[in-house]
Amino acid sequence: MGGKKIAINTGGGDAPGLNAVIEAVVMSADRRNWEVYGIKNGYAGLLNTNEIVRLTPESVRGISIMGGTIIGTTNRGNPFKMPVTSVTGETEFRDVSDKVVENFRRLGFDCLIALGGDGSLKIAYDFFKKGMPVIGVPKTIDNDLGGTVITFGFDTAVSIATEAIDRLHSTARSHDRVMVVEVMGRHAGWIALNSGLSGGADVILIPEIPFDIDKVCKHIMANELHGRHYAIVVAGEGAAPVGGTEIAKGKGEAGRQELLLGGVGEYVAKEISSRTGKDTRSLVLGHLQRGGSPTTFDRLVSLRFGAAAVRMIEMKNFGKMVALDPPEMKAVPLEDVIGKIRKVPLNSDNIQTAREMGVCLGD
Ligand code: F6P
Repeated sequence: MGGKKIAINTGGGDAPGLNAVIEAVVMSADRRNWEVYGIKNGYAGLLNTNEIVRLTPESVRGISIMGGTIIGTTNRGNPFKMPVTSVTGETEFRDVSDKVVENFRRLGFDCLIALGGDGSLKIAYDFFKKGMPVIGVPKTIDNDLGGTVITFGFDTAVSIATEAIDRLHSTARSHDRVMVVEVMGRHAGWIALNSGLSGGADVILIPEIPFDIDKVCKHIMANELHGRHYAIVVAGEGAAPVGGTEIAKGKGEAGRQELLLGGVGEYVAKEISSRTGKDTRSLVLGHLQRGGSPTTFDRLVSLRFGAAAVRMIEMKNFGKMVALDPPEMKAVPLEDVIGKIRKVPLNSDNIQTAREMGVCLGD
């Protein structure tokens, strides 16, 4: 079965493990005598066709340990809604998807492997509906995609956040302070819950549980009675007070699908400080959570996702996403996954463990 031409792109925010998927796709395809081409910066490479690079075993060997993506990514390049500046200087949105399909066909590609989160996989699915054979690979540090038990990039983000929380204990203890750490995760609390629990946080605030700031303060002050004069609070960026809404920094750049969340850590710190009188500081971990080398877990699962995606091409299993269903990889229809953010189930074992450990979840 020789001669296939595979295109691969990476969309949305980068996540540790993207390069490992690329390496596995190229190596597995090469074994079958197939060629792989990297489409640069999401779909930009299929609009401006000099932004396509041939990926060979020589060019990708060893990249699995590297963070980021060697072919670039963007979270504002939706070809169905491409931002363009009009003559009056206004931003307009145009559907340039036909051009993408036309270039894909003209270049003789047999399949596109799209590495992305919910937004990018929705675009991939829309191209599938236009007749393009696509396969999705679940990428996001937020771990908020359904159909798979985990997305790649999440384990690395949790490890980085846990290490940061570990480091805050000594400085918080030295100053008898409350430290509030804001972590990423959008509308799901996976990063906050898992890193907060592993890092020994006193309070963990997640989007799934609206928090009561009085209860948070009460918990912190109860610690004082037990001789613990410092506290660590972990807040997922999408956490919101009871009756309130998520705090956002704005819409971000033109063409971006999602609000840019951020600010809940500072809000919570101010409330704690004014209500308890305790010295309180806040910090935002931000993009540190996406940077650097993937963990062993992310590397391995990404290599497995990449190899499984190539097997799916062999079986002509298009319009599907590779998913981890331990111990196996399976294929799930993209339409069953997109638009359904996977949140932390309130009856999950991690939530129960947090409660049994005496962690305040803000309720
Ligand atoms: O979806 C991944 C993510 O890192 C979110 O956790 C975060 O809200 C968002 O992307 C940040 O986006 P940007 O990289 O555009 O600032």
